[in-house]
Amino acid sequence: MRLSRRDFIWLTAAGLVAAPALASASITPDTRRLKLVLRPEQRHWFAPLGEPVGLWGFDGDELRLRQGETVDIEVENRLPNPSSVHWHGLRIDNAMDGVSGLTQDPIPSGGRFIYRFTPQDAGTFWAHSHHQTYEQLARGLYMPLIVEESKPVDVDRELTLTLDDWRLNESRQLDTRSLGDMHDWAHGGRVGNLLTVNRQIKPQLRVRAGERIRLRLLNTANARIMLVKLPEVPAWIWAKDGQPLVSPRELNETLILAPAERYDLVLDIPEQATGVLPVQLESDQAPVDLAYLRVDGGADRRFSGTPSALPANPLPLLGDAEPVHRVQLDMTGGAMGSLRQAVYRGQTFGVRELVKEKQIWAFNGIANMPEQPLLEARSGELIEIEMINNTRWPHSMHLHGHHFQADLARYDKELWHDTLVMAAGERTHIRFRADKPGSWLLHCHMIEHQAAGMVSWIRVLA
Ligand code: C2O
Ligand code: CU
Repeated sequence: MRLSRRDFIWLTAAGLVAAPALASASITPDTRRLKLVLRPEQRHWFAPLGEPVGLWGFDGDELRLRQGETVDIEVENRLPNPSSVHWHGLRIDNAMDGVSGLTQDPIPSGGRFIYRFTPQDAGTFWAHSHHQTYEQLARGLYMPLIVEESKPVDVDRELTLTLDDWRLNESRQLDTRSLGDMHDWAHGGRVGNLLTVNRQIKPQLRVRAGERIRLRLLNTANARIMLVKLPEVPAWIWAKDGQPLVSPRELNETLILAPAERYDLVLDIPEQATGVLPVQLESDQAPVDLAYLRVDGGADRRFSGTPSALPANPLPLLGDAEPVHRVQLDMTGGAMGSLRQAVYRGQTFGVRELVKEKQIWAFNGIANMPEQPLLEARSGELIEIEMINNTRWPHSMHLHGHHFQADLARYDKELWHDTLVMAAGERTHIRFRADKPGSWLLHCHMIEHQAAGMVSWIRVLA
C-alpha cells in the first residue's frame, strides 16, 4: 500500500488548539458486572449457497461502557486455544492491560479471567485478543468498545463502522494455512481478499435525510491501511483514537485509517438525500463500496454548521516542558530493507538465522521483546521518543496505556493518538507523560510485523 502525499493533504490544514485539561470524571461507587464469552462464530457470508464461514469472536456486536464507571468483566474462553483481552486505547491499570506473557498469563481454553477497571476517557476504542495476536485477529477475535460520555452527546443517531478484511481460500473459508506466512510477515502483513463492515458484506445502515450522525470508524484489519471516502456527505472529524479535537475539522479528503486507528466523525445527511450514500474505500482502481447509508425518509433538521467539540477527556497537557527522557527508536528490517543482523532473545543472529526464527524486523537492532525496556520513567515524567522508519514499509505504531502527540507535518501537534501511521522513510517525535506504573508495549499494529520483531516496551515506575 502506497501512501501518497495527496492522501495526507486534509491533515495539513491548521486549526487544532490544545485541549483544556478536565477535572477527572466522577467515579461511581458501584461496580457494573459484565460477562464476555470468546467463542467460535459462523458467518453466512455466501448464503444460501455457500457454507458458513467459521470465525472466532466475542458474543456481542459492541461493548458499551460508561466513563468513570468501574466494571468487572468476566471473560470466559470457550475457544480451543488460550487467549487474553486487551482494551486498546484505554488508560487503565497495567495488570488489566491483557497482554499475555507480560501483564498476565493467557486464559486457558475453558478458563476465565476477571478484568476490573474504570475507563477514564470517553470515546471509541476496541477490545481484541493479545495472545497469538496475528492469528486471533485474523480469525476475528475483536469487538468495538465504546465508552459513553457521562452526559449524552446530542446527535440524531450514532453508528459504528468496524472495517476489516479477511483472507479466504478457494473453498470460501478462512485461509488458515497462510497464517504465519513469511512472505506476508516480511512485506506489508496479511492482507485479505474480502472486505467487511461490522462483519457483514456491504451492509446498509438506516439514516434519515437531514440528520446529524456520530459515525465511529475503526480499522481492525491485521495489516490493511484503509483509505475511506464519504463522497456525498458533509463530514467533520470529531475525535481521533478516542480523544476529541478541540475544534472539529472539516473532512474534505480521504481519511487514512491504518490498522487500529479510530476516528469519530460528524455527518450531516443532506436534506435532499435519497436512496443510498456509499462509504467507499479508495484503491488503485475505481473506489470500492464498503457499506451504504440508506436514506429512509426525512427528519427535521435540528443541527447545522460546524459542530461544537466533544467534551475533553482528563488528559494532562504536555506544555512546552523539556522531556525528562529522550530516546530514539530506529525501525529497520523487512523486504528490501537493510537489516543484516539483529539481537533476538539475547543473541546476535545473521539474517538467515533470523528468517529461520521468523524474525525479520527490529527496533534499535533488537528483534522482538528486549529483556530491558526501551526506557524507564517515573509516573508523571515527560517522555519523547524519536521514531525513525528506516524501512520501505508504512507502520502503524501503537503505544499501550498512553496517548501521545506527534510532530508529523500532517497532524497538528495537539492531536492525540494511541496509534500513528508512519510512511516509509518518515521520522517523528512522539511525546507523552508516563502515567500508570507497569510495563507498556510499543509495537507495530500491522500485526505480522509485531510477531516478526517490531515490539518493545517501556517501564513506568510509581
Ligand atoms: Cu491493539 Cu498491543 O494492541
Ligand atoms: Cu509495521
